[in-house]
Amino acid sequence: MTEKKPEIIRDPQELQRRLTELRKQGKTIGLVPTMGALHYGHLSLVIAAKEESDISVVSIFVNPTQFAPNEDFDKYPRTLDDDVDLLSQIGVDFIFAPTPEKMYPRGFKSTVQVGGLSEVLEGSFRPTHFNGVTTVVLKLFNITGADFAYFGQKDYQQVAVVKKMVRDLNLPIEIISCPIIREEDGLALSSRNRYLSPTDRKNAIILSQSLQKAEKLIHSGERNAQTVRDEIRRMIETVPNAQIDYIAIVDPDSLIELENIAGNVVILLAVRIGSTRLIDNWIVRPK
Ligand code: PAJ
Repeated sequence: MTEKKPEIIRDPQELQRRLTELRKQGKTIGLVPTMGALHYGHLSLVIAAKEESDISVVSIFVNPTQFAPNEDFDKYPRTLDDDVDLLSQIGVDFIFAPTPEKMYPRGFKSTVQVGGLSEVLEGSFRPTHFNGVTTVVLKLFNITGADFAYFGQKDYQQVAVVKKMVRDLNLPIEIISCPIIREEDGLALSSRNRYLSPTDRKNAIILSQSLQKAEKLIHSGERNAQTVRDEIRRMIETVPNAQIDYIAIVDPDSLIELENIAGNVVILLAVRIGSTRLIDNWIVRPK
């Protein structure tokens, strides 16, 4: 891997100026929005961005507006020095690390709301979450003027909501969805995994195990979504301190819950293991 010190920019206007200049020279820009505490899931997006764009930009911003007051904004891991080291090893061009005051100056009053898709699943448990995400993501799109933006399928609904915003508002950007990166035992990488105690960490593999079991059931001919959901629930409930927020089998585009499995489906889970809330999902293509 190449070592290249990224330029760290903290001021939105300065980044906007610098990238406008580069765009005028005909360079394409690839953006990877993150909240830092980077792991290989994030880095896989950065590698894709570097391959496809002339200029790569990684934003690191723990966005206060997407956390509800009872959520983990204050304790969310902030590891900027380590993040910069990792991104230097990959050779990113710009790191955008603004302060909340720069992103939301006094008097900030605007919100982007994607109706429908942002109200189900995660949205029904975290009603203000996606408004915070779409508002900050649109700001990042406008600040960078990126041609491509990279998101992980780990947050399946987030990608769906962002794609819908792009279509609805005619944003001149292409959204690229990248596969979920997992630990060897199947747990999807997440900045929140570091909250798990050793026992919870072991138990957390029940999410991916139950999703794989669901895929097997569907591949062996099961077409009743309730039967598949029941089996996932049964498996997760074998873990003593697991609490299920939802198990959903949905249409991949509309995210509408299905009763019968006919075409491709996405199975989405949100489960609390102890005090850590984890999400995971699996796309299943019936044979
Ligand atoms: P964050 O949780 O830091 O994630 C940044 C990006 O990394 C998201 O697109 C997420 O889906 C992706 N990602 C996380 N874990 C992954 C994994 N195991 N495999 C593949 N991709 C993974 O998502 C956010 O930040 C924020 O909501 C943000 C979009 C930055 C807006 O604030």
